[in-house]
Amino acid sequence: MKELSKKIINSPKSKIRELFDLAAGRSDVISLGIGQPDFSTPQPAIEGAINALKKKITYYAPTKGIPELLQQLEIKLKDKNKINAKWEENILLSNGGSQALNLTFASIFNPGDELVISSPNFISYFYLSAFFDVKLVEIERKSDFSPDIEKLKDSITPKTKAILINSPNNPTGYSLNRNELEEIVDIVKTHDLYLISDEVYENYLYDGSKHTSPASLKDMFERTITLNAMSKLYSATGFRLGYIAANKEIIETMEKYHQYTVAGTNHPAQYGFLEALKMDNGFFDEILRSFDKRRLLVYNRLKEMNFEVVKPKGAFYIMPRIKEYNITGAEFSERIMRDQAVAIVPGNIFGSFSESMLRMSYATKLEKLEEAMNRIEKFVRKL
Ligand SMILES: Cc1ncc(COP(=O)(O)O)c(C=O)c1O
Repeated sequence: MKELSKKIINSPKSKIRELFDLAAGRSDVISLGIGQPDFSTPQPAIEGAINALKKKITYYAPTKGIPELLQQLEIKLKDKNKINAKWEENILLSNGGSQALNLTFASIFNPGDELVISSPNFISYFYLSAFFDVKLVEIERKSDFSPDIEKLKDSITPKTKAILINSPNNPTGYSLNRNELEEIVDIVKTHDLYLISDEVYENYLYDGSKHTSPASLKDMFERTITLNAMSKLYSATGFRLGYIAANKEIIETMEKYHQYTVAGTNHPAQYGFLEALKMDNGFFDEILRSFDKRRLLVYNRLKEMNFEVVKPKGAFYIMPRIKEYNITGAEFSERIMRDQAVAIVPGNIFGSFSESMLRMSYATKLEKLEEAMNRIEKFVRKL
């Protein structure tokens, strides 16, 4: 048989999915691997989708999404993000944040273009770059996981097309402050770049940190591609709905690609998202408090065990360093799964600078987290 796609064959299968699979067969496993909140999707989202199905809305939706939902997203973007996007021309609905990223890569990059990110960073950025022949330039984060602005600046070449930021960040838990964001925006404007802003964790912020969308800053709407999803705020990863806000030309380009590759998103699910967006976000306050407790528990326990660990500012991940144990993150992850039945993602899948790190998700019940920390403690004592 002739050879299949090199680009895809050469990219490894998702380690996170592998962990998922390993854990699925064992009842004793505690998973700190999953990027999925554990609370129930709010009822209005579920009923919105059910009612749409009852009305037999099972046919194709408009490629960019149903007008009612795009209009509601226009309101959300204005009120929450201070982004002035017009629903008719600046917003497009995608299959989750994942496809929002895919559409972004498909519509702005040509082979050989360069994309700059801080590293460690979210795994999909690496593979999408490979699939679209984009040269990914990784700039190592500082030890507190903040971006190295000077190095970012120095990395810009005539081939640089865009900088991508993800704040709050998966896997580090870092959230950019206003000053850092403005410095990045300055680089973008000075070098006539696009800024891709992945904001799927915008609601998961602790200690009073505030989220700023770069598209709301002066002269930035035209050059920013804002990505978001239903997945994390509404604990609705299976709805597979996300969206993009960008200038008219970018959205038109995406619409074309969208038409020929996926022909839109799930139609009844869009009515669920619509009802979710109409809700008051007050429902999330209690949930965020619970995530904050988990964050502090995990951070404090890891610190007590002498891990070198940075207190996360947002999202629901923590990324301890394990240099002192003289094993890689990959070995740690494999051995702790075998010895203690705890699923932890090795750091190396998040880029070139995190081989001796681990990523733990604390989107798990407090009691389970406590037990997971006890098991980790037992494991590291033996190292
Ligand atoms: C930073 C980041 N962007 C995008 C996504 C993809 O989101 P979705 O699950 O809506 O496809 C994720 C999922 O974990 C993520 O962590």
